[in-house]
Amino acid sequence: MDIVELVRAVPIFGDLDENEIKKVAEIGINRKFSKNGIVFLEEEEGAALFIIISGKVKIVRTDDDGGEVILSILGSGDFFGEMAILDGLPRSATVVSIDNSELFMIHRRDFLQVVEKAPQVAISLLRELTRRLRKADEQIKSLSLKDAVGRVANVILQLADDSGKIKKGQVIIPDFPLQQDLANMAGTSRETISRTIHQFIREGLLEQRGNSLIITNFDKFKSSYS
Ligand code: CMP
Repeated sequence: MDIVELVRAVPIFGDLDENEIKKVAEIGINRKFSKNGIVFLEEEEGAALFIIISGKVKIVRTDDDGGEVILSILGSGDFFGEMAILDGLPRSATVVSIDNSELFMIHRRDFLQVVEKAPQVAISLLRELTRRLRKADEQIKSLSLKDAVGRVANVILQLADDSGKIKKGQVIIPDFPLQQDLANMAGTSRETISRTIHQFIREGLLEQRGNSLIITNFDKFKSSYS
């Protein structure tokens, strides 16, 4: 995909006119990261905003013992790194490339200029930040109020919301994350993830097909666990 096309496909730039889209395409540079490559670390100074051209990244916070919590998994068309750019504070989390990925990097000053000139970018940005806050609220509720089975179900619903494709009442989640990543999203162990997913499969709620996970009756699953 050429860069102009890519910029046009990014939701926060979708309302820009052709000239403005070309300008955004010119101010950024492409960067490639391999599987498990670190894009930046929590606490670093932030100098750029990133847009995912291809691949997936995970947003993680770690503790001194190497424990990891995954706050979110982002895919193509998503952006990250806006927080340090907007408030001037250090990076709030570490970002790791899950597989090989290609990112489009826009320098802080250039991005802020785009936002100043095009209020519709600011509005789209606010809409996406609001969506992330709603999701984070959902995660707080899930982590504090639900048991392990409920937390695993919640992570599956989150992934369905982020990257699922709905078809005849079923939701297909392609490239379903590794069990360890799921455990780090649900605040539980890999064993609990494995046990719970197998329980859901036995109950007919889920099916596994290659790398994809299928929620066989999305409405039923959602009403049981959200
Ligand atoms: P920044 O703080 O610059 O660097 C880490 C980035 O991770 C942050 O900007 C956001 O883009 C992203 N991020 C942090 N917390 C979340 C979250 N809860 N959901 C999605 N993305 C997040």
